Amino acid sequence: MTASSAMVEALIAEVSAIVQIEEHTRQAFRAVPRHLFIPPVGQAFTPEGDHRLIDRDADPDDWWSAVYSDTSVVTQLDDGATDITDITEGAGECTSSASAPSTVADLLRWLDPLSGHRVLEVGTGTGWSAALLTHIVGAGHVTSIEVDRTIADQAAKNLAAAGLHARLIVGDGAEGFPDQAPYDRVHVTCGVRTVPYAWLEQCRPGAVIVLPYCPGFGTGHGLRLVVTPDGSAHGRFPGFASYMMMRSQREPADLPPRDLDAEHRLTTTMDPRTIAFAPPGADLAIAALTGLTSVGGYTEDEEGGLYRLWLSSPADPYSWGTVKWRPHSTDYDIYQAGDRPLWDEVTDAYFRWVSWGKPGRERFGMTVTEEGQRVWLDMPDQVIG
Ligand SMILES: C[S@@+](CC[C@H](N)C(=O)[O-])C[C@H]1O[C@@H](n2cnc3c(N)ncnc32)[C@H](O)[C@@H]1O
Repeated sequence: MTASSAMVEALIAEVSAIVQIEEHTRQAFRAVPRHLFIPPVGQAFTPEGDHRLIDRDADPDDWWSAVYSDTSVVTQLDDGATDITDITEGAGECTSSASAPSTVADLLRWLDPLSGHRVLEVGTGTGWSAALLTHIVGAGHVTSIEVDRTIADQAAKNLAAAGLHARLIVGDGAEGFPDQAPYDRVHVTCGVRTVPYAWLEQCRPGAVIVLPYCPGFGTGHGLRLVVTPDGSAHGRFPGFASYMMMRSQREPADLPPRDLDAEHRLTTTMDPRTIAFAPPGADLAIAALTGLTSVGGYTEDEEGGLYRLWLSSPADPYSWGTVKWRPHSTDYDIYQAGDRPLWDEVTDAYFRWVSWGKPGRERFGMTVTEEGQRVWLDMPDQVIG
């Protein structure tokens, strides 16, 4: 079986109901069949967060409908250590996927690739976005780097099956690929906390770098940087983008144990969900002001349902904090350990954001130089962190 044009047009219609899809991306979706890049068995994740195993042989209709809908398909768990058929909740960290078509369309819109552009891609994955880019900018103009050899080998086969030629490199995309520099566009499809300066060094002035900025606090944000003649780059956050982290920028897995019987117990009357469910502008501000990461979720314990927010400072020395919300409570337990009082830092940052008039994500931006990166509000000279 092969994809009918009706399936592709239905996918384009579904994506355009969610995000703006550029004409070059529509044409590329038509020219580069997604099914050639999706393995026979994978895990389909819908935008609502449901996930299920899709198996082309066992249930072909389900597989084809996942491939031609706005669904991301996870193709690897735990860098390959956990079998992809294991769909037990929390069984494995997703480490490679074919991103959802609406996410791909967003990044390509921000990237604005033109015919003849020289493109560096970081995170080849299945090779689908490298193939789309090749269709847009032309054969031989795309260099795509993948850190995982098994994933890269499969991507090479997928591109060959689609009859497209992109230069595939196995390595750490944080270093870029100077041999093919200077680039006009850098398309990053793994989450980045710290923008590697190597990407700027390998770009010509006016080049655009699009990346999922995932500082680890709250949601992820698309970042569109423009490289300037002095070798720095400035840009804003045009929308949502959440990706699996670049390997070298993942949070360390072996954090010290968190002892909830520690004597650091305090209480707050502030509902921790005010912070946990704050809008993207607040997430950006808190991440920039504190450098902290967070995770949260509803769970159950012997006393019933609760929401717990965890905070941690990735930098050495390690600090952490946690706040627990329960229905009908008027105050909530806080535990904080380490040198930094993280709940206090986070609430201070949140109320600074409130005092600025609660600016949305689009009012923030970032400047990157050889010395590092700075987040600003409205103008590059109004640095916040
Ligand atoms: C979401 S997937 C990429 C999706 C892909 N563009 C596609 O169209 O299928 C993220 C990929 O980034 C890769 N990756 C993670 N860290 C990397 C690094 N430092 N350098 C290059 N690739 C990396 C992962 O192995 C994974 O395959």
